[in-house]
Amino acid sequence: MNRAALLFAALLCACSPQRTAETPGPAAEGAVLRLATEGANAPFNFYQGEQLTGFEVELGNALAQQMGMRAEWTAQPFESLLIGLEGQRYDLVIASHGVTEERAKAVDFTDPHYCTGGIIVTRSGGPGTAAELAGKTVAVQVGTTYLQAVQDLPGVGEVRSLPKDTDALQNLISGRADAWVSDRFVAAGAREAQPQARLETGDLLFQEKIAMAVAKGNDSLRERVNTALAELEENGTYARLSQQYFGEDIRCD
Ligand code: ARG
Repeated sequence: MNRAALLFAALLCACSPQRTAETPGPAAEGAVLRLATEGANAPFNFYQGEQLTGFEVELGNALAQQMGMRAEWTAQPFESLLIGLEGQRYDLVIASHGVTEERAKAVDFTDPHYCTGGIIVTRSGGPGTAAELAGKTVAVQVGTTYLQAVQDLPGVGEVRSLPKDTDALQNLISGRADAWVSDRFVAAGAREAQPQARLETGDLLFQEKIAMAVAKGNDSLRERVNTALAELEENGTYARLSQQYFGEDIRCD
């Protein structure tokens, strides 16, 4: 056979049914569940030294275990997480994505794993209501529902969008921004972690359902994750993790 014929044969072979049967599908016992998150969004997903941890990381590990799979993690910038599903670099994204129509065009969402909202955070005495943000500088993370919400507010002076939510928080603390809009649980964590910054929370601007994402059309994995999540909600694992991180149960009603 010449080179072209060999290459063609190799391609055929890669597509043959035997090859497909050997490759463990996401449903196989002992298979690897490739998860992705950001790793800069405490208390949901963050690094403790070298160790990736947080509510979503522990929940992801518990889900994998429930599905009889081994979790393998990738951390990458928030903005490119959903795009990576298309490239099949990983199977499941768990990074506090709000379920939006826009995102649902590109990926499929699982059932929500918690419910929350976007809140205004200021330094002591800062602009804590939507109306008070008029003419002010607001810092938010790029590619988030917070950015969208702030852009939708009339009269905001300047919107600073930063690569990481922690950068947006630093903008507030250093005075480069008058307010920061972020997740209400993230904000509570930041207030606790940095009491010297004297942060205050203001209006809840919107509420959202947070879910995991799979590649568009990956129904088998989406259904398995939904089943596993329901089991963890049933058997007390979810409640334990939620209490551990938040002192309350943050599942959607
Ligand atoms: N909930 C917000 C959104 O859906 C922000 C999520 C931020 N997550 C993160 N891992 N930094 O856009």
